[in-house]
Amino acid sequence: MANGNPFKPSFGASPPVLAGRTGVLDALGEALDSGTGHPDFTSLLVGVRGAGKTATLNAVQEYARNRGWLVIAETAHGDLCNRLAAAVLELSGGGHDRGGRPRLAGISALGVGVEFTRASPVGVGATEVRLRSVLTDLGSLLTSERIGLLITLDELQGGEPPELREFATTLQHVTRRESLPIAFVGAGLPSIDDTVLRDSAITFLQRCSRHEIAELSDAATATAFAEPIAAHGGRISDDALRRAVETSNGYPFMVQLIGFHSWRAASSDPPNLQIADVSSGIAEAERRLPHLVLAPMWRSMSGVDRRFALAMAQDDGETSTADLSKRLGRSSSYISTYRSRLIRAGFIRSTGHGRVEFAHQATRAWLRSPDRTP
Ligand SMILES: Nc1ncnc2c1ncn2[C@@H]1O[C@H](COP(=O)(O)OP(=O)(O)O)[C@@H](O)[C@H]1O
Ligand SMILES: [Mg+2]
Repeated sequence: MANGNPFKPSFGASPPVLAGRTGVLDALGEALDSGTGHPDFTSLLVGVRGAGKTATLNAVQEYARNRGWLVIAETAHGDLCNRLAAAVLELSGGGHDRGGRPRLAGISALGVGVEFTRASPVGVGATEVRLRSVLTDLGSLLTSERIGLLITLDELQGGEPPELREFATTLQHVTRRESLPIAFVGAGLPSIDDTVLRDSAITFLQRCSRHEIAELSDAATATAFAEPIAAHGGRISDDALRRAVETSNGYPFMVQLIGFHSWRAASSDPPNLQIADVSSGIAEAERRLPHLVLAPMWRSMSGVDRRFALAMAQDDGETSTADLSKRLGRSSSYISTYRSRLIRAGFIRSTGHGRVEFAHQATRAWLRSPDRTP
């Protein structure tokens, strides 16, 4: 049964309870409240796929809206700067937006044609001039209204470098040089350390405060299960909860998968979840995880990353990096490079000095299965 099921096992969907993120949410909320001088006024959220970056961004957006701020929530892909300029113009357009809420009046005459006539610094493209000018105009108006604009940019790892550079230069200008109330929170996979954040032309992003969206503690994981169940009239036994917490390993997406399928497995709705329900929930979650999480990670991994992972899958439990070095016929520094890469990708984790294990319990069986593609 799934009628009242509170769990949300979909990427980008806000969970019923955003557990374990009060630290980062408090910091970002405080930054919005105190203004451009606050170090977290421009921030980055970094974490593996399924860690809860988008869910955290959603919560920050909600915080901003509740304080009367304007919000632009975009992803980094494609022609980012044009989309942003259009979104800023739409917010600046006066009248009412699609949801019937009043827009800011006062800069409705703000026109692209007019703005293009501004002197453009050498080497700066037309889009950047346009984005900068519409942001400056909106930012100045917001200053007088004592509110701000929050721009969130998800999936930073998918951005086009020239677009990200343009965006970064523009934002640096409006937030740092002009001190306009335009806050920024970006989110991306840890791979941005090797791409976007290594691009010396994007120092703005490097200077943003960095918040790791890491795995949840056991206590936060227990809250993520127990609170929504109780809030929806259900119950869960202590041993069932312990089992759910243990198996999800602090991985938020797994919490939602296990919660959702355990709820469905129960014979009543709202359920009184016992170990048997949670066990079927776990089995179903583990059946789905490869397709939803492991395969996308695998597709983005290099040939060497994959050989490393396959060499680990020969073991039934943890693997020692010394064994990997022998199996792959490589030096320990080579092994340690790939070990770090796979840890940052969220595919494996360290279990102590010189030992690694797959981040998800379902990984080994999936890697060993003959029908895995590719
Ligand atoms: N703090 C949290 N507590 C419980 N569930 C969470 C939490 N953060 C995210 N989730 C859930 O985990 C899944 C992945 O979250 P998402 O924000 O899409 O991850 P990411 O953007 O990092 O890939 C979603 O189903 C979401 O509802
Ligand atoms: Mg996301």
